[in-house]
Amino acid sequence: MKLPFAESYKIKSVETIKKSTVEERKNWIKEAKYNLFNLKSHQVFVDLLTDSGTGAMSDKQWSAIMEGDESYAGASSYFHLKDAIKDITGFEYFLPTHQGRAAENVLFSALIKEGDIIPGNAQFDTTKGHIEYRKATAVDCTIDEANHPSLNHPFKGNVDLEKLETVLKKYPKEKIPLIIVTITCNSAGGQPVSMENMKDVKKLADKYDIPVFYDAARFAENAYFIKIREKGYQNKSIRSIIKEMFSFADGMTMSSKKDAIVNMGGFIGFRHREDFEKATEFGILFEGFITYGGMSGRDMNALAQGLYEGTEFDYLETRIGQVAYLGQKLKDAGIPVQYPFGGHAIFVDAKSFLPYVPIEQYVAQTLAVELYIEGGVRGVEIGTLLADRDPVTRKNRYPEVEWLRLAIPRRVYTNNHMNFTAAALINVFERRNEITTGFKIVKEAPLLRHFTVELEKI
Ligand code: F0G
Repeated sequence: MKLPFAESYKIKSVETIKKSTVEERKNWIKEAKYNLFNLKSHQVFVDLLTDSGTGAMSDKQWSAIMEGDESYAGASSYFHLKDAIKDITGFEYFLPTHQGRAAENVLFSALIKEGDIIPGNAQFDTTKGHIEYRKATAVDCTIDEANHPSLNHPFKGNVDLEKLETVLKKYPKEKIPLIIVTITCNSAGGQPVSMENMKDVKKLADKYDIPVFYDAARFAENAYFIKIREKGYQNKSIRSIIKEMFSFADGMTMSSKKDAIVNMGGFIGFRHREDFEKATEFGILFEGFITYGGMSGRDMNALAQGLYEGTEFDYLETRIGQVAYLGQKLKDAGIPVQYPFGGHAIFVDAKSFLPYVPIEQYVAQTLAVELYIEGGVRGVEIGTLLADRDPVTRKNRYPEVEWLRLAIPRRVYTNNHMNFTAAALINVFERRNEITTGFKIVKEAPLLRHFTVELEKI
């Protein structure tokens, strides 16, 4: 008999989670103004809000924490992390930051000015937020296939080279300080970018003399997909694929809370000393001195260890296998999901799922609330609420696809939790025709509104 698949770790410490009743959840979500970010964690049974900072650290990471060096300057933990980053990514220079958006803040302070244009594939909301906060514009050049959930394409995160070149031709070089490629592309459904596409983007960028930075929060998952799906990479190691990926970039921002499996942390990697020096003054101003920048020594130690664990093939196979396990259950039940399944999450196509809820009534949010009430499972809206308003017209931006994202924390839940989640969503699917109304906004912030928005049932 062929031996079946099994997780590449065993469990040493557990945390209790509690079930609740439908009645309790109806009250809690109402009190939370129908914003799932306002729920208290004990009101949630399976928490798929995010895979960010929610992973389980290993015994080796916890022991690395005990060896943290908390010196203000020149801590051994800093050099430990510097060596790990160089070893895994190839980047010579780096600045630690407290998380991914802090890396964006520091890097963009050095590079982006008002009126600039920043093309790439679909950028994450904090990235876009930091661009728009500087009165610059992010241009989404993702391939069109990303917007067709059932269309099978192995690299739906790819940059459309024609769209990119149109932008590069239209604006002078001085207006385009960098191209940002997000790997994997979260906003498109955790979809990977192929090595070939990375190579081609770099070639095009070189032609127009524009630097390329990766938003690399899920770079290891991207490398796994290249190994599994891209011709010529089956026999290459994850680590060598990662090195090759980064060889087509001038730098990277990292939210270490994802693929490096720590609860807090981030960094910027640089190929060129000049970029590092330009960013350093903002790093010191916003985050802290060069050798700790927003992180404690112990956390830098855990991150260094996490970078190695997060880039092991067996771990990635377990991780992405679990996401696909959930995806397949939903797909088998006829639920419309982004296919092929992404690396960190299953993205449910809410407009197809709930065809009777008007688009102005926040369809994906409606589905997220229904799933929570059904089973205490918390997902997140990646739809109109997150897409926010156009900074100029202040009109709602309606994305082509309204997603409900079910993001799986790393090494946290078992496949029984995936079965539970699938059953809850299938129950909602079975009564989908009774769901005909959604929500209206009663209060919202001018930027990144989805975190604090307050809603009322229609
Ligand atoms: N880039 C990407 C692609 C992300 O997914 C995130 C965060 C960030 C940057 C910002 O990093 O949270 O450390 O400041 N994504 C989380 C999510 C919040 O739920 O997808 P951060």
